[in-house]
Formats: sequence, C-alpha cells, structure tokens
Amino acid sequence: MPNRTVRVAAGVVIAATALSYSAGDLDPRLPMALSAGVAAGTGCLVFAVGRSLRRALRRGEARDGRMRGELNRLGRRIGSLENTGGVRHAECLRVLTRTGRLVEGGFERVGGQYRALEREIGRSYAQFEAFTDLRSLITPRAPLPALRGWAASPDVLRVMTGWILRTRPKTIVECGSGSSSVWLGYVAERTGAKVVALEHEPRYAEASRDLVRAHGLSDVVEIRDAPLLPWWEGMETYLWYDREALTGIEDVGLVFVDGPPGTTGPAARYPALPLLLPRCSEQVAFFLDDAAREDDKAVSDRWASRFPEVARTTHPAEKGLDVFVRGDA
Ligand SMILES: C[S@@+](CC[C@H](N)C(=O)[O-])C[C@H]1O[C@@H](n2cnc3c(N)ncnc32)[C@H](O)[C@@H]1O
Repeated sequence: MPNRTVRVAAGVVIAATALSYSAGDLDPRLPMALSAGVAAGTGCLVFAVGRSLRRALRRGEARDGRMRGELNRLGRRIGSLENTGGVRHAECLRVLTRTGRLVEGGFERVGGQYRALEREIGRSYAQFEAFTDLRSLITPRAPLPALRGWAASPDVLRVMTGWILRTRPKTIVECGSGSSSVWLGYVAERTGAKVVALEHEPRYAEASRDLVRAHGLSDVVEIRDAPLLPWWEGMETYLWYDREALTGIEDVGLVFVDGPPGTTGPAARYPALPLLLPRCSEQVAFFLDDAAREDDKAVSDRWASRFPEVARTTHPAEKGLDVFVRGDA
C-alpha cells in the first residue's frame, strides 16, 4: 500500500513539472525548485522502494528460513520414518520367517502323521487279513481275548498256526501266557496237541487260567506258575522261568518265545533256546516275537551264532518275527 502512495505522489510531481514547462508561464526559478523537489521526491521514492524491497527481502528470507526449517523438520521426520519403517520391516521379516518355519514344520508334521497313518492302515489291514484267516479255523465257545498291544498279533499267530497244522507237534510251549494261550489252545485242540504256558506273574497266571477255563480248553492248555530265577551261561546271568516248571515237558515241536518281558533284564529271552532245545523233538520251530526290538535282535543274533543247527528266517510281522527251525520245515 505505501508503494502505491509513493508512486502516485511521484507521478503528480512529474506531471505538474511537465505542464508548467509546456505552458511557459512559470517563474524561471520554479523549475529549479521543482527539480530539487523532483530530486527529493525521487530520493524519497528510491528510499521508500529500497525500504520496501528490504522489507520484502526480509520477509522472503524469513519465509525461506521457515521453509528451510520446515524442510529440515520434514527431512528429519522422513529419516525417522525410514528408520522406523526399516525397524518394522526387519521385525516383519523376522516374524514372517518365524511364521514360515512354523508353517513348514506344521506341514512336515502333518506329512509325517499322514505317512504314519498310511503305514498304520497298511498294518491294520494285514492284521485284519490274518485275523480273518485265524477266525475261519476256530469256533470259539466264549468271547475271544483281544490280540495286539501287549498280546501277540494275528500275523504271528497265523504263521504259528500254519506250522502247527503242517507239522502237528505233540507239545507246544509258550513263554508268557495270555490271549495267545487261548488262540493256540483252539488250534492245538484241532490237532490233538498240548499247550504248556510258563507264567512268572501269579495274577496273570490266574487270569490266563480263567480264560482257558471259560473257553473249555483246560484239558488242552496248562498255565504253569514259573517265577523268574537266575540262570548262568558262561559269564552271563539271566533271569528266566524256574526250571522246575519244565518238569515233564518233552517232544516239543513249537516254542512261542513271548516272555519274560524285556523289563526283567537284558536279553531276557535268550535262555529259551538253550534250556528248551534238549526237550524238543527233532523237528521244532522257535518263534521269537518282537524280533524288531533291539534287545530281541541281540537274542536272535546270539541264537544264530551259538546254535548253527537251527536255521533262522525273518518274517514280515508288525513287531518283528524271527523263526529258528531245526529239522525239515
Ligand atoms: C508279551 S505279553 C504276551 C503274553 C501272551 N503270549 C500273549 O500273546 O497273550 C507277556 C506277559 O504279559 C503279561 N500278561 C498276561 N496277561 C495280561 C493281560 N491281560 N494284561 C497285561 N499283561 C498281561 C504276562 O505276564 C505275560 O507273561
């Protein structure tokens, strides 16, 4: 606004001076006074314009300063945002990597479970097949005791049943009584054989006797109490069934080695072959159940190396089955 006032004042002074000259009616001293006035006006004008320019410059500088400050602030903020973003980015990556690993682990576990399920379906089908086969050979007189788990599996019972029907042994010995005592009892009943089951646990001996009685097999199956006692071979000591319990046992054509349990000591089943072989007929088979277990593999290997007269064969069974045969199979 002051600029415009100055510009108008200067214009008026210049216009009046020009008119006075063209009219020629001015006092000759007047142009000099006017010139001095114009010079003074121009000086004022230059001063005013300069002052106004300086003010504008100062305002511009102030604006520049504010802008620079704002820009600096923005720069710092962007920098801090970048840093924050970087930190968050790294954290996100860590979380994503961890999540990825968890998801991968989950897939592996599910894959493993799927494969285990597939194997179990295959195993169950094989047991079902063996069970159906066995059931077609016997007519039970009471509900049959469960198989698998702590008891023998149908696949092992089927192999033993095949041996009994083919070789017709007079005597069958079981190391460890239970469900198998009943199933083998029914097959023995068909062929006229006798079953003697050795049992170290009095309560299970009683339970097995009850089962045998319930199935009307007491004339075929005898459950003998046989506490575990030490037996030495060379420098090795084993806990095995009381040898007194073997009294009268002869002409054995099948031995089912399913006890004592591995928890009773290392190579717990080893004594079966050295102690029972002298009571066996010329043709005999020892069926070593659970042969897939490390401890029973050791038993199997010791038998194979110390008794070359018995030939070892390995059968596909869910818990592992090694069969040692003497004589014609
Ligand atoms: C490997 S289990 C097998 C017993 C038997 N040969 C069978 O297949 O049913 C060995 C031991 O299990 C124990 N046992 C017997 N009846 C049982 C039962 N109903 N529940 C749990 N264990 C039993 C006995 O001490 C037996 O000597």
